[in-house]
Amino acid sequence: MNRSLLVIGSINADLYVEVPRLPGPGETIAGIDAAVRPGGKGANQAVAASRLGVETWFAGKLGSDAYAPPLRLALEGAGVETDLIEQVDGPTGQAVILLQSGGDNSIIVVGGANREWVELDERVHARLREVGAVLLQCEIPDAINLEAAHAARALGVPVILDAGGSGGAVLPALFPLVDILSPNEHELSVLTSLPTTTNEEVVAAARALQARGAHTLLVKLGARGAMLVPEQGKPVIHSAFQVNVVDTTGAGDCFTAAYAVATVGGMQPQARLRFACAASALSVMRKGAIPSMPNREAVKRFLMNNNHETDLAAYE
Ligand code: RIB
Repeated sequence: MNRSLLVIGSINADLYVEVPRLPGPGETIAGIDAAVRPGGKGANQAVAASRLGVETWFAGKLGSDAYAPPLRLALEGAGVETDLIEQVDGPTGQAVILLQSGGDNSIIVVGGANREWVELDERVHARLREVGAVLLQCEIPDAINLEAAHAARALGVPVILDAGGSGGAVLPALFPLVDILSPNEHELSVLTSLPTTTNEEVVAAARALQARGAHTLLVKLGARGAMLVPEQGKPVIHSAFQVNVVDTTGAGDCFTAAYAVATVGGMQPQARLRFACAASALSVMRKGAIPSMPNREAVKRFLMNNNHETDLAAYE
């Protein structure tokens, strides 16, 4: 079994401002705190996967500014292989994150270097041949995801696409090329123009996407948990763990990465969902995207404390 992952995607400097509430138009309010933290959906997933115990390569673009070196270090510090990161002239990707008490956030992304992809480097194609799965999101040009998904499919390497960053506008040409498509409930609703408020509605929307060529749907339902909708057979649901939410930034990235780790690790669907729900629950208890990604030991401890001892063999 090949337990390694290649993450192709974005990397950002997350410019955090903690606010008591969002300001209205023309209004100035006093913030509570400000900090720069490492993030970007691709980098978040790469760090999560590495900390959760699989060998992980990250292919991304950094700019030539002062944000680039600490971002690279954040990945390296988490054990991610960074040889496939390229530096381009100009600004690194940035995200302005307004974090409100209670953990909710509003995010504005300025793509910077993440939009500078022209094609996949030959070294990325070579790495694709060596990994157990490839993980994509939607903060780099669609054409790059399309190239990666085509190449992976031709090699028989499973493709997991997180719809995060798409605003629900995932390129339909990607549907048949992707083994697992992972939107949240809002993205699924935009993608299908269907409601996704109840579990029944989520299943109906997932089936509508499958009718358009998508394979397995892995739907993130926020505080309600997550649902796996395979092409054949019944959906599998896992409820969210109840934790003290400090910052939800990167929780979806953590979830999808943890699910990918569990998949290349050969776990069964219910155990994969539980592992991913536990990892993302841990991630919302700390501030920051990359700083909040838990390691495998923390997930195992969390599951044990939440009375899932019987499952632990699955997570070795
Ligand atoms: O998913 C969270 C991420 O979205 C943040 O880290 C930010 O960089 C934006 O890309």
